[in-house]
Amino acid sequence: MATLKTSILGIDFENPFILASAPPTAKIESIDKAFSLGWGGAALKTITPDNLEMVEASQRYATWKSGGKVCGFENIELLSHLTVQQWLDGIKYLKQKHPTKVQIASIMAPVVKEEWQKLVVTFNRSGIDAFELNFSCPHGMPEKGIGMAIGTSPEISAMITQWVMEVAEKPVFVKLSPNVTNIVEIAEAVEKAGASGFAAINTVQSLMGIDLDSFEPMPNVNEQSTFGGYSGMAVKPIGLRCVAQVRQNSKLPILGIGGISNWRDAAEYMAVGADAVQVCTEVMINGYKIIEQMKNGLLAYLEDKGFESPMDLKNKAIDKLITHKTLDKSRQVYPRINDELCIKCGKCVMICDESEHSALRLENGHIAVDLNKCVGCSLCSHVCPKTAIKMR
Ligand SMILES: Cc1cc2nc3c(=O)[nH]c(=O)nc-3n(C[C@H](O)[C@H](O)[C@H](O)COP(=O)(O)O)c2cc1C
Repeated sequence: MATLKTSILGIDFENPFILASAPPTAKIESIDKAFSLGWGGAALKTITPDNLEMVEASQRYATWKSGGKVCGFENIELLSHLTVQQWLDGIKYLKQKHPTKVQIASIMAPVVKEEWQKLVVTFNRSGIDAFELNFSCPHGMPEKGIGMAIGTSPEISAMITQWVMEVAEKPVFVKLSPNVTNIVEIAEAVEKAGASGFAAINTVQSLMGIDLDSFEPMPNVNEQSTFGGYSGMAVKPIGLRCVAQVRQNSKLPILGIGGISNWRDAAEYMAVGADAVQVCTEVMINGYKIIEQMKNGLLAYLEDKGFESPMDLKNKAIDKLITHKTLDKSRQVYPRINDELCIKCGKCVMICDESEHSALRLENGHIAVDLNKCVGCSLCSHVCPKTAIKMR
């Protein structure tokens, strides 16, 4: 029998599904509800010193939809609006009511040693299980020299991590930004400075779109906007890549984040090195109850694969990620067309012709492949509206 239980740095998780620091973890009552519904833990909405100004814009979200479904989500929201004392009371309440649930205090402060250390000391014995350092919010905060302004500099990231480690009594995860040329450089710097683990990724800096009548950018804040943070399904490939790159260079625990909307996404993150995962946008769109399908799906998968726990799944794909140079290029695949599914629309023929290879043609009522011209790139299989093409 498989279990979803897992353990990270001595912290026991009922299951590896954690709410990411965001609106679903901004209120004590809602975290209470999420824990009752089955979430294994919560990274609390980022806590800051009470005197850090936090004035929100309206509206603060924009979405990219396809077929009515939210694929990409942009926000320009700032951090928690609860005071430090409200969080202290809330964490204590939650710990008493849900002793087996993991609470991670996400924190951010100006680049001042005393400010960071004061926050850590204040929360050390509050009932939290770990800290998460938000070095990665890409909007609003970088203008104040914090958030992503910290996480894009290996030196500043390392310096603050060191300050935090001097006083932290709980494990410290550094939340990394994808908005850097080399995420490994930042991960290495904070690991050397003593970080216990990583959380990756925060949102991807973005601009959702422009209204072509008014030329107002989105999200529209009184006819203007600012660059925001992109999340949701669309960012999963970026998050997976970041987690894999960090894992290739570090053995520290990683909390995988970015575009996780079901158990499969979570399993993929684990396969490239995540010890557990965090979810935000999918919960904002569909509510806490998605935890049910996530837990059931992952458990069934673990059992099916003969894995005892999420720990057995960790890193399963990591050795398969190599350099382009070392990929085995000795074998080539070709398109196999399923004539029963093919509607002879000719799209694959047109695309193959216009994108370099001209290897397909419509011949005697079916698609013929010129094996001398086909390079096995797979473009035809991706554009086929009927998924009638498989690469073999
Ligand atoms: C509306 C919104 C607010 C967020 N606020 C925070 C925050 O306060 N602190 C933080 O570390 N990350 C914050 N995030 C980032 C998420 O925790 C997460 O890293 C990101 O959204 C990617 O995960 P997802 O694709 O599951 O949403 C926020 C994201 C959203 C959408």
